[in-house]
Amino acid sequence: MYTQSDQKSLYERSKAYLQADHAVHTQAPAQQHADLSALIIYHEWRYYIQNDPVLSDYEYDQLFKQLEKIETEHPELLNADSPTQRVSADLTEEFSQVEHLTPMLSLANSYNAEDLNDWDASIKRFLNIDPETELAYGVEPKFDGGSIALVYENDVLVRAATRGNGVIGEEITNNAKVIRSIPLKAAFSQYGIHRVELRGEVLIRKDIFEKMNAKRAAEGVTLFANARNTATGGLRIKDPKEVAKRGLEAFIYTLGYAVDKEGNNVLGQFSTHLESLETLEKLGFKVPVQERKLCKNIQEVIDFCNYWQQQREGYAYEIDGMVAKVNSRELQERSGFTSHHPRWAIAFKFQAKQATTKLLNVEYQVGKIGSITPVAKLDPVQLAGVTVSSVSLHNEDFITSRDLRLGDTVLVERAGDVIPYIVKAMDELRDGSETPIVFPQFCPVNSTDIPVELVREGEEAAWRCPNCVCGAQDLQRIIFHVSKDAMDIDGMGKQIVERFYELGWVTNFADVYRLDYAQLAQLEGFGPKSAANLEAAIEKAKKNPIHRLLYSLCIHHFGKKVSKLIAAEINHVMELKDWQFEDFTKIKDVGPVVAKNIIDFFQVWTNIEMLGEMESLGVNMTQTEEDRPKVAAEGAVFSGKTILFTGTLNKMGRKEAQEKAEAAGAKNISAVSKNLDILVVGDEAGSKLKKARELGTVTILTEDEFLAMITF
Ligand code: IVH
Repeated sequence: MYTQSDQKSLYERSKAYLQADHAVHTQAPAQQHADLSALIIYHEWRYYIQNDPVLSDYEYDQLFKQLEKIETEHPELLNADSPTQRVSADLTEEFSQVEHLTPMLSLANSYNAEDLNDWDASIKRFLNIDPETELAYGVEPKFDGGSIALVYENDVLVRAATRGNGVIGEEITNNAKVIRSIPLKAAFSQYGIHRVELRGEVLIRKDIFEKMNAKRAAEGVTLFANARNTATGGLRIKDPKEVAKRGLEAFIYTLGYAVDKEGNNVLGQFSTHLESLETLEKLGFKVPVQERKLCKNIQEVIDFCNYWQQQREGYAYEIDGMVAKVNSRELQERSGFTSHHPRWAIAFKFQAKQATTKLLNVEYQVGKIGSITPVAKLDPVQLAGVTVSSVSLHNEDFITSRDLRLGDTVLVERAGDVIPYIVKAMDELRDGSETPIVFPQFCPVNSTDIPVELVREGEEAAWRCPNCVCGAQDLQRIIFHVSKDAMDIDGMGKQIVERFYELGWVTNFADVYRLDYAQLAQLEGFGPKSAANLEAAIEKAKKNPIHRLLYSLCIHHFGKKVSKLIAAEINHVMELKDWQFEDFTKIKDVGPVVAKNIIDFFQVWTNIEMLGEMESLGVNMTQTEEDRPKVAAEGAVFSGKTILFTGTLNKMGRKEAQEKAEAAGAKNISAVSKNLDILVVGDEAGSKLKKARELGTVTILTEDEFLAMITF
């Protein structure tokens, strides 16, 4: 359909239209009209046919709006086959085609509070309602699956169809019948309804989707790209038995058409949108319940949309926004439709989680133990509300497994709190000018003339610089040493350490504790107050429990957990100098690799000397009974269990609670899933509690019950 070079140029022209590119925006209107039409048709093909869009919905909408604007300003350019004149189609020849009882239209989109306020004002204008009057809206998720229209006659499901081009869809009744959430019979006749058409969305629950993919991975079959495509694809499988295996579900969100035996419209008996949803719920349909809300004005709509934007990741189904609908059916009827969408409803689209951009360059960073991390420099792109211009490529295998090349257009994703990452390169947009990313053989960070060859040991994924001659690793180690998880020196962030390092004030850990605060107070941007604050933070850090100090030494594989296990066994840090291999490995969960690394560390004379200096500068090296980590005994109350705290705790902080749980043998995890054993709920616990209840396998404890069970 489109060649690679077509696609590349379509993509680049789209981006030119989306940016303030003078060259395209000053072309003759007819040229811009032809261009934008072609671009939109291409993006619709990528979205609806290929199921693999290269633009975010927001970007697509911007192109569409530009085309609409040109057509409003130059009506002579409007022709019947302009993309503005039809809804996109996904018809194939395989299923028989049926006409919907009423057209399945799209929704207008909004992206922020301002858009929603504008929409609220425009409906009131259209309905001649005073702008100060509050309009009530029903708000529910915008499910991200495949739309479906169901027709019931005489209480029996007689037809199911996909959306198709909005007017004509594909008949998939047999497939719909294997979806258990679609009732085959429903008692519409008790409402005097003879014939009815319902609209809804077919979806796969996220955890079921993940299981299906895990199974496919185990079988060595190609993985499904995402839950949405698996649902839409599932609806159109020719064999209903195969459809049944996909675990599809249908949410119904509209009752769009209902007539009695004489063909009279009987929708009027449901005075609001939410009332019709409640009726459908009573009739046995799956409708949004917890996730819908009657909002009494547009501000409540905005708040509810924002709330769901935050909750999105924790929700069991893929949703890409919320839909607000004027609740009163009478007002819905009065406001009517444009050719494209109802005036009484609007989609609030969540910020895009994915975007495409150019991979411009790869830079390398060295870590505290010498690991070399490649970092991709990207053409800056907006992703879920932040500008992303660089992302980690982790290691060489990450680059080779994705066949990433310099100059590639890449798909970047940022989901929830997850750090942005590259999903894939869009290889169909390559033009041959892309060049391979060659991982360096010698330390790329090294600023001296002495080359240091990188090594890759055993099973490790990272290349490492084994013999740092340039000090770059010392700097990284100091940054780690003072960081929050290690010695936790407040006010000594990365940039400040870098500055002190450049000034030659800190070259190893001991230097941190002999800063000259009088000199510091003279430093530009500091002053006596900041110097005094830093001094106080450093004095506080000197008293840290020794497990923090052990962790802060940057010994390879010496993580937080092992630091605590070892700290629990000693009275003074220097004892470790005399520990033998077996002294380490006899501690449960301390492995041979870390044992060897600790022994190596304590054999280096300069390390011993540095620890000695630190102690003489006041850094605590002695264990106290109060600080001694409580290591869970075998058979501790929560031994082998996973735990999660949610809601506001009253008797302890979140961190303290997690430490107590750990001491009682539990492992803290961050999400409610089948893997969770215990959920401890504080005040105002929300979606996590709900999900745990739904799972039915999680033990739910109150804060008091939890405290009563632990012995520490
Ligand atoms: S109402 C006439 N409500 O979004 C009003 N649509 O662009 C029709 N969708 O493909 C739509 N969740 O399938 C409505 N709660 C919801 C929805 C929803 C998902 C889909 C719908 C359509 C698209 C509209």
